[in-house]
Amino acid sequence: ADHVRNKLNGSSLFVVSNREPYTHTRQDKRVNVTVPASGLVTALEPILRACHGTWVAHGSGNADAETVDIHDRLKVPPDDPRYTLRRIWLGREEEDGYYNGFANEGLWPLCHIAHTRPIFRTSDWEYYNKVNKKFADALVEEIGSEEHPTVLIQDYHFALLPRMLKERLPHARVAIFWHIPWPNAESFSICPWQRELLDGLLGADLIGFHTQAHCNNFLHTVDHVLEAKVDWEHFFIERNQHRSSVLPFPISVELVEDRFDARNEISAEEERSTLLLELGIEATFLGVGVDRVDYTKGILERFRAVESLLERYPKYQGKFTFIQIGAPTRSRIKRYVDFQVEVKNEVERINARFKRGKWKPIVFQNREHTHQEVQRYYRAAHLCMVTSLHDGMNLVAKEYVAARQDERGVLILSRFTGAARELHDAIIVNPYDVESTAEAIAQALEMNVSEMADRMRRMRRSVMEHNIYWWAGSLIGQLCSVRLRQNRTNIS
Ligand code: F6P
Repeated sequence: ADHVRNKLNGSSLFVVSNREPYTHTRQDKRVNVTVPASGLVTALEPILRACHGTWVAHGSGNADAETVDIHDRLKVPPDDPRYTLRRIWLGREEEDGYYNGFANEGLWPLCHIAHTRPIFRTSDWEYYNKVNKKFADALVEEIGSEEHPTVLIQDYHFALLPRMLKERLPHARVAIFWHIPWPNAESFSICPWQRELLDGLLGADLIGFHTQAHCNNFLHTVDHVLEAKVDWEHFFIERNQHRSSVLPFPISVELVEDRFDARNEISAEEERSTLLLELGIEATFLGVGVDRVDYTKGILERFRAVESLLERYPKYQGKFTFIQIGAPTRSRIKRYVDFQVEVKNEVERINARFKRGKWKPIVFQNREHTHQEVQRYYRAAHLCMVTSLHDGMNLVAKEYVAARQDERGVLILSRFTGAARELHDAIIVNPYDVESTAEAIAQALEMNVSEMADRMRRMRRSVMEHNIYWWAGSLIGQLCSVRLRQNRTNIS
């Protein structure tokens, strides 16, 4: 945390994202505060807590100003206020056009190779512009007369914001971090507004992705579409006398050191027995998956691998149960509604085929879980499956590793995640290859304790060395150096 504060060097931090870190929902007279299921929130929350900045986000709850003092600007976390949350309220049409429409029916499937066709509607594009402008207005207001603001814009919801902001606040240091993959130039070219999106992004001084491969795809895309100088040696783009560096910063979680955590006094075995009792099932081996119910996450492929395991290794029938924690997500989008039904049907089909007595192969917990609840499942499970068809990073993989202070448990990880480039001691799978994934589950269940501990120790070391403070420190450090270089070469 000190490392990040040093990098900021007295400058104030402004973070922008669509998702807010705390949602206030009113039920009768009570206001519930929840943390949404979002890797982005998990990653950024500790940074804001350490740096006391301002987080500007879309207000998604339904509590109103009269019930509680939360309307536009409030101090959070609720129990230990450390930074300011500025909320931007959107009307139903704005939210549908900008978030559900352009961001999630257009850009999301455009950037993920999951074979869902993107939908581009002109009206969504117009709302996307309008909402980006709304955020720019709020940021200008928040930044006020701040002399050296550092602005970290998050994700594909705000491709136009860097340019909008730099035009109004040329002295601000602006970075945008793209949390999802960037496709190849040919795939990206199907977007009718590709030029505008690239132009908006190139307003930033620094553009970050999780991997070098996504940086390369971005540089190629700019090379194909715009008149710009693309420097492949130092990874920057110069256009209209402005330079944007394009660099990888693999995001991470908060694992700091192997310090004693009282919750870990409960052994994996004890945690397992209590959970099984609560769930009312009997099983000897447990697997876990934690995802938003999103078609990019490879949830159906994972279930089919469990089915294949039970076919290939009948000894695991009556013994191995896979618990899928599936947070409902983006429920106003048809593809997500359909996918939710597909997942439920698949669980029912596989369970009907194998279940007996108090054992069943798959438990589907289709609701939001708190961070603490999820930790219990991580600690109880013999293995965790992350089988995304395509994923920028995937923080569940790193959270599982962070939770296993006991150096037990095996991670099964899709090669199509950014995390697979770092966590070489996971069992790496191609989720489209169901039989091999089933073999990976068998390998995990049969792995001896010393190999398991060696692998987990190395993965924990890697996550500790490259934790979320390292991510933010590198991003902010780079952003500062980009500006200094620009000043020297007189490029504004
Ligand atoms: O990391 C990609 C991302 O879209 C984040 O921006 C977001 O917080 C998370 O996945 C969850 O998606 P949503 O905010 O749409 O629920």
